[in-house]
Amino acid sequence: MIRRDFLLRSASAAAVLPLPRAGRALTPQFDEFKAQVSAVQLAPPPYPKTEIWGYDGMMPGPELRIAQGARVQRKLLNALPQASSVHWHGIRIDNAMDGVAGLTQAAVEPGESFDYDFVVPDAGTYWYHAHARSFEQVARGLYGALIVEEAEAPEVDREEVLILDDWLLDPETAQINPDFTSAHSRSHAGRMGNFVATNGQYGLAIDVRQNERLRLRLINAANARIFVVDIAGMEGWTIALDGMPLAQPQRLGEPLILGPGQRADLIVDVTADSGETAHLVRLDNGEGMSQVALTVTGRASAVRRDDPPALPSNANMDVPGLDNAVPVRLNIEGGAMGRMQSAVLNGERKSFRDLVDENEYWALNGTVGMPDAPLAGLALGQTVKLEISNDTSFPHAMHLHGMHFREIGEDATLGPLRDTITMFRGETRTVVFVADNPGDWLFHCHMLSHAAAGMMTWMRVT
Ligand code: C2O
Ligand code: CU
Repeated sequence: MIRRDFLLRSASAAAVLPLPRAGRALTPQFDEFKAQVSAVQLAPPPYPKTEIWGYDGMMPGPELRIAQGARVQRKLLNALPQASSVHWHGIRIDNAMDGVAGLTQAAVEPGESFDYDFVVPDAGTYWYHAHARSFEQVARGLYGALIVEEAEAPEVDREEVLILDDWLLDPETAQINPDFTSAHSRSHAGRMGNFVATNGQYGLAIDVRQNERLRLRLINAANARIFVVDIAGMEGWTIALDGMPLAQPQRLGEPLILGPGQRADLIVDVTADSGETAHLVRLDNGEGMSQVALTVTGRASAVRRDDPPALPSNANMDVPGLDNAVPVRLNIEGGAMGRMQSAVLNGERKSFRDLVDENEYWALNGTVGMPDAPLAGLALGQTVKLEISNDTSFPHAMHLHGMHFREIGEDATLGPLRDTITMFRGETRTVVFVADNPGDWLFHCHMLSHAAAGMMTWMRVT
């Protein structure tokens, strides 16, 4: 741990120096991290430990915390029985470092390694996770937080990173259910867990004091579950979504939907009295079950404070006029209780019934799975208007790699920058972005069983 802290600090100290991207003569100081099988106490005793796949034997993986503009150098050592890769979710990254096995790099075979080397342009809450057989590898625990700190952060008493997840465990042995390709999870709402944990802990409770101000960084790492942020015993604001600051802090009133892959930064002031419990997150099934509890143990000396200021914005990411935007359409079809009749799989048209036999269920613009041709070939700098229709009976969390987009609201105003949009059944939503990052970028459902069963495409920016 000491060694890691030291290396992270030296990595951020290096950030103030101009870093030549090519031809640098520095000896790379790659901090290693190892994807490996380990055992952690997920379910409380008397349950035994659960065998997971994690980074450095930890659940969640080590938190990477660096300064905005710093360079990250991590050597992935693959000690798993399967090929793997690491995706740095939400980072506007160099395409070669995006970690998509089969698109931006070859999967790293067991016993091999890969050097990830990139700069983080934006401050905010990001995360990293496996991106080879992610429906299995993320479900086994291969993820962690990637926190990029602002040069000037808002004043809070403390900060907590909260990674939300649900695990599908055998109720007797507390071991991970190994049926990662179940027809039901692929064709319905995805792999839903029966054991909800935060930072790998069941029923996480944090001791706080009344009037304390916390910054909470929420990350939804679940395979398919939508979490609902619904506070009680505290008041607060959303200050960033998917890493990107909101222009103005938004007071938490309506429950905030957090689909798989999405993040939210909150500032909350604890209002509950000493001895009471404040609640933060519930499940999407309406049960109101609290997943993160803040136990109030006393009163902070400070009295209630003023509303927090907005975070400093990241690089200028304004969307210019939409008049010259290239229109792109994406239609999501298929799944159980859908109306898709047929779709193309590996160049062949198949009936839905035949697709079911192959355990494939979802089509994007009529094609099941990764197409040879990109959904859109975009010129660098072009503005893109992407209209997405969810013509299925399930919600989907559509995630674009490498770039953030804004949703065009009903009143034509632009919403906050996001990298993932959670869409409910029957919805059509339109997002706009500037294709300012060259490369091949995956665009897929972050309900990982859906992605594996067809909901995957890509865009090329040249
Ligand atoms: Cu967070 Cu393609 O994924
Ligand atoms: Cu989906």
